[in-house]
Amino acid sequence: MKNCDLSTIITALGGRQALQDLLGVGPSAVSNYLARGTLPQRALGPVCEAVRARGYHIDPASLEIIGHQDAGAGAGRGMREGMRGGMRGGMLRRVLLIVGGGIAAYKALEVARRLQDHDITVTGVMTGGAQQFITPLSLSALTGEKAYTDLFSLTDEAEMGHIRLARETDLVLVVPATANLMARAAHGLADDLATTILLATTAPVMIAPAMNQAMWGHPATQENLARLRARGILTIGPDDGGMACGEEGTGRLSDPQEIVAAVLDQLGRGDGALSGRHALVTSGPTVEPIDPVRFIANRSSGKQGHAIAAALARQGARVTLVSGPVTLPPPPAVDLVEVETARQMLAACEAALPADIAVCAAAVADWHVADAGASKMKKQEGAPPPALALTENPDILKTLSTHADRPRLVVGFAAETESLYENAAAKLGRKGCDWIVANQVAGDEGDTVFGSDSNAAMLLTGNESENWPRMPKAEIADRLASRIGAHFT
Ligand code: CTP
Repeated sequence: MKNCDLSTIITALGGRQALQDLLGVGPSAVSNYLARGTLPQRALGPVCEAVRARGYHIDPASLEIIGHQDAGAGAGRGMREGMRGGMRGGMLRRVLLIVGGGIAAYKALEVARRLQDHDITVTGVMTGGAQQFITPLSLSALTGEKAYTDLFSLTDEAEMGHIRLARETDLVLVVPATANLMARAAHGLADDLATTILLATTAPVMIAPAMNQAMWGHPATQENLARLRARGILTIGPDDGGMACGEEGTGRLSDPQEIVAAVLDQLGRGDGALSGRHALVTSGPTVEPIDPVRFIANRSSGKQGHAIAAALARQGARVTLVSGPVTLPPPPAVDLVEVETARQMLAACEAALPADIAVCAAAVADWHVADAGASKMKKQEGAPPPALALTENPDILKTLSTHADRPRLVVGFAAETESLYENAAAKLGRKGCDWIVANQVAGDEGDTVFGSDSNAAMLLTGNESENWPRMPKAEIADRLASRIGAHFT
């Protein structure tokens, strides 16, 4: 809540009704604000904007009206708003933080605090379970705003109805996302304020799951997770490690700082060249089973593909990253789909369509074993080694390039040992993609491509080509992402 001279603001706005209409509240809410001499945090941005639209200069920090443009008074002071009071370039950044009912709920308080360090206004919503762990008072004290808990509260509905809570935010963040909350969200239930908001919101939704490792690994939770991800819900974590219950495994809430970094990353995208675009990226190797214990794979680390996914996200795109097994952490706020075989990778890519952009950076195995055994192949004394019959894998790049739902820009990679330009140009024609990023994978340059942090590349865009000298893979990714961004603007 912000202390201010509310009467002057109301006069500047043109009366109480104007404030009511602006904030979508009733007369009793305005009476409350006047009695307390305060405005709720969420009202600051809209009030400042509306006051300024009427020609007044307002100091967003103190909410003091400094003058009117016609009087020339205070000219220039209005420019001071900058990053203060949750404003960035005049835009208020708002996060609706839903706290789920898990032991990690207390860490949501830390997340709320740290978000405010970045001038983000946080409005708290708590499930019934969350209130078993922390109180609405703690959350409200830290956010400086009312913490909403009840779907059927008349007072809350008068002040800020559930639909407005869901809509008037730049991001909905769930910390911790419990197995129960994920299940309810996955099935579209609206049986409390939190799930109703998740159903009603049109803002991006980011969840940070936390639960016991067995609950996390349970097929029911994994199915719910896949369902949520397929709908574009972004996930952060969970991490590996020891848990409150004493067990070890995957299920720990990600570090609050990591959650905040992912939120900042996501919020920073609004003005990127690729904002509103969907990018599909393949990365890593594919792993083709020979039998239940053996497989054919390759040395791809996924570093380049993952860096491209992160770079496209920084340009504002919503990114689906389809990756074979790698040891890299998923880039923040990217929708990761983990696969093993080329056939699974193709299915995941087709499921992710429609997309505006596809970048195929995965090292897809060209073949899989025709009849991979269901049981382990045994070595027979004196018998010749088994012959592996191989069958061709689907070509994902070619399939996407010729798909009925073809992304507008399809980019392939070419790993070549010789005649880089000629082979890459021929590959571009053969695969039907628009651009190719070509790498030399043998000789002086190529020795260091796989697993390395740097790379030299040639970008072929139709008939044109340009050479990119050796540089970190993250830089190659940024160059490619900004070229793609320029293509779409
Ligand atoms: N690719 C794919 N699906 C495959 C094979 C390759 O999507 N089954 C994609 C890769 O992700 C890359 C491009 O095709 O973007 C070229 O991969 P590369 O291994 O260089 O080419 P190949 O198709 O294997 O052709 P060649 O063996 O002739 O070099």
